[in-house]
Amino acid sequence: MKIIISNNHLETSKKACDLFIKLLGKGYYNIGLATGSTQIRLYHELVKAYKSSKIDFSLVNTFNLDEYYKINPDYSLSYRYFMDNHFFKHINLPKKNINFLNGLANDPIIECKKYETKIKSLGYLDLQILGIGVNGHIGFCEPYSSFDSETSLVNLSDETIKQNSDGRFFKNKEEVPKQALTMGMKTIINAKKILVLANGQRKASAVNKAIEGPISSKVPASILLNHKNVVWMLDKEASSELK
Ligand code: GLP
Repeated sequence: MKIIISNNHLETSKKACDLFIKLLGKGYYNIGLATGSTQIRLYHELVKAYKSSKIDFSLVNTFNLDEYYKINPDYSLSYRYFMDNHFFKHINLPKKNINFLNGLANDPIIECKKYETKIKSLGYLDLQILGIGVNGHIGFCEPYSSFDSETSLVNLSDETIKQNSDGRFFKNKEEVPKQALTMGMKTIINAKKILVLANGQRKASAVNKAIEGPISSKVPASILLNHKNVVWMLDKEASSELK
């Protein structure tokens, strides 16, 4: 495991962008993406890099980690809308290369199975970008998710509903969908390389538990201790509880 600590969110995002560009140059084309306030600056850095011809997305395939259920992909608080708005519409990523769980799928079980099968058929992802929830979740794999889980429909924990209704996205708990479609722990951990980003004091405790262990389903991100190729990029505050 590699841990890179920066002074602030912007520096973390710039370093993550540089690593992304380097890995793309090595042929890491199948990439798992994450949403959330942590990732916005990374996408802005990547868009800037694209506009100054430092990166080309034409061969990239993207797979987003998760989506609320049920939510219309065109709704401004869907993860699909977030990605279109912050990233996809600004770069030369072919539309057909964007893979996304459909928040309006009639049959969520079939939707998740199809997604998992496509990822497996690629031999899993080359690079997975992750954030971490205050409760240690990755994607929407909440505490006590099985380490063997594949892409599936899950219930969101009260803590996650609370965090995601603090005004950064949804304005109150009632607005937040109570379920989501998410890649599973097994789907995530099978990526060849994993880059986790975390910023701010509110992530410090989860980051500490994930990095210092023990490995426990109570803290889903602690499963990353089993992976040989994980890079954590943290700002000072997010790293403040590491011993
Ligand atoms: C959300 C997402 C995660 C994300 C996390 C942190 O609920 N499902 O993929 O990593 O919570 O989000 P933020 O970066 O906004 O703190």
